[in-house]
Amino acid sequence: MKGPVAVVLMLLLNRQLVTARVLKQTEPRNYDYTMYHPLTEIMAWMRKIETENPEIVSTITYGTSYENRDITLLKIGLNSTENKKAIWMDCGIHAREWISPAFCQYFVKEILHTYKTDAKVEEMLKNLDFYVTPVLNVDGYTYTWKDNTTRQWRKNRSPGTGSCIGTDLNRNYDFLWGTIGVSTDSCSIIYPGPKANSENETRAVVNFVGARSKDILCFLTIHSFSQMILFPYGHPNIKDPNYDELTELVNTAAKAIKAVHGMNYTVGSVTETIYPTGGLSMDWARFIGIPYSFAFELRDKGEHGFKLPEDQIQPTCEEAYEGARSIITYVHDKTFHSSAVSVRATLWTALLASWLTSTALL
Ligand SMILES: *[C@@H]1O[C@H](CO)[C@@H](O)[C@H](O)[C@H]1NC(C)=O
Ligand SMILES: *[C@@H]1O[C@H](CO)[C@@H](O)[C@H](O)[C@H]1NC(C)=O
Ligand SMILES: *[C@@H]1O[C@H](CO)[C@@H](O)[C@H](O)[C@H]1NC(C)=O
Ligand SMILES: *[C@@H]1O[C@H](CO)[C@@H](O)[C@H](O)[C@H]1NC(C)=O
Ligand SMILES: [Zn+2]
Repeated sequence: MKGPVAVVLMLLLNRQLVTARVLKQTEPRNYDYTMYHPLTEIMAWMRKIETENPEIVSTITYGTSYENRDITLLKIGLNSTENKKAIWMDCGIHAREWISPAFCQYFVKEILHTYKTDAKVEEMLKNLDFYVTPVLNVDGYTYTWKDNTTRQWRKNRSPGTGSCIGTDLNRNYDFLWGTIGVSTDSCSIIYPGPKANSENETRAVVNFVGARSKDILCFLTIHSFSQMILFPYGHPNIKDPNYDELTELVNTAAKAIKAVHGMNYTVGSVTETIYPTGGLSMDWARFIGIPYSFAFELRDKGEHGFKLPEDQIQPTCEEAYEGARSIITYVHDKTFHSSAVSVRATLWTALLASWLTSTALL
C-alpha cells in the first residue's frame, strides 16, 4: 500500500509545483500584453490586477451572459473628492475583434503603471472612476477561440426567435432600435434581436450605465477594424448639437494617434463616416445624457481585418491609448476646470426628446 500512496503523493506534489510555475508566469507583472488571450486568462488577469492594486482597483460583476458567464469590469480610481465623475470603456462587444479586448487590458496596465509618476493621470484618477469591461460579449468571444471555423463570429450566442443563433449586441440598444442598418433575418450578422434590450449582455450595460448616467462623462466603446473615431449619431436625420465640438475633439485625437506611429484614423459621425445604423450602444449612451460618446475602430484598414497579427497589438494599443487619453483629458479638464458640461447635457437630452416626439421618428 505504501508504494502506490507515495507515488500518488509525489505525482500530486509535482503537479502542484507545475501549476504554481504556470500561474506565476501569468501574473499581471509578467502578463504578455502582446498576445491575444482566451477569456479564462483575461478573467484571471482581472482578479490579479485587483489583488495587486487593492487601493485603486476593484472588480464588479454586473451581469450574466446567455451562457451564464460573468460580465465583469474593473473599476479604477483613487479615493478623494466627494463628487467623482466616471469614464466608461467597453471592449469586445463584437466577438471577433480581438484587438479590442487586448486594448482594454493595455489601457488598464498603462494607467496603473503611470499614475504614480504622471501627475495628470493621478489627478484624473482622483476626479474620475474608470469602468473598464475588457470583454463584454463573453460568450461570443469564447466561441471565437473554439477553432478556426468560429474565429469570425461577431454576435452573442443566444438563440433569439429565428432559426439562427446570435444577436448583434451593437444593434440591440433602445435608441432607434431596428430602424436602419439592420436585418430582420436572424442569420444575418446585423440581426438586432427580437426587441430592444432583449439580450442579457445589453441589459447588463443598460442597468449599470443607466444607474450612473449623471456621473458618466464619457462613453467609449472599442471595435475593429478600419481606423476610425466615430461620434453619434447613426441615424442620418439626427445631428448632435455639439457636432462642431465633437468634430474638433476627434480631430485632435486622430492627431495624437498619428503622432505615435503615423497611422491615419478617419473621424466623424457614424452616419457620415461608416454607415447609418440604429440600436448602437454609443447612440443610446448619448441619448440618455452622457455628453461625450465615441466608438473607436482600431487597426487595420482591411489587410488582416479581424485577424490582426499579434506583432501589431503593441503599436495599435500605444497609438489608441494616446487617442483615448486625449479625449479623456479634454472631458476631464472641461468638467473640473470649468462648469458648463452637465448643464448642457441635461438641456440637450430634453431638447432631443421633444424633437423626436414631434417628428414621430420613434
Ligand atoms: C476608499 O474608500 C472606500 C469606501 O469609502 C473604503 O472602503 C476604502 O478603504 C478606501 N481606501 C483607501 C485606500 O482609503
Ligand atoms: C440573464 O441574466 C439574469 C440576471 O443576471 C440571470 O438570472 C439569467 O440567468 C441570465 N440568463 C438568461 C438566459 O437570461
Ligand atoms: C483550420 O484548422 C485545421 C486543423 O487545425 C487546418 O487543417 C485548416 O487548414 C485550417 N483552416 C484554415 C482556413 O485556416
Ligand atoms: C496617411 O495619409 C496621408 C495623406 O493621405 C498619406 O500620405 C500617408 O501615406 C498615410 N499614411 C499611412 C501610414 O497610411
Ligand atoms: Zn465591432
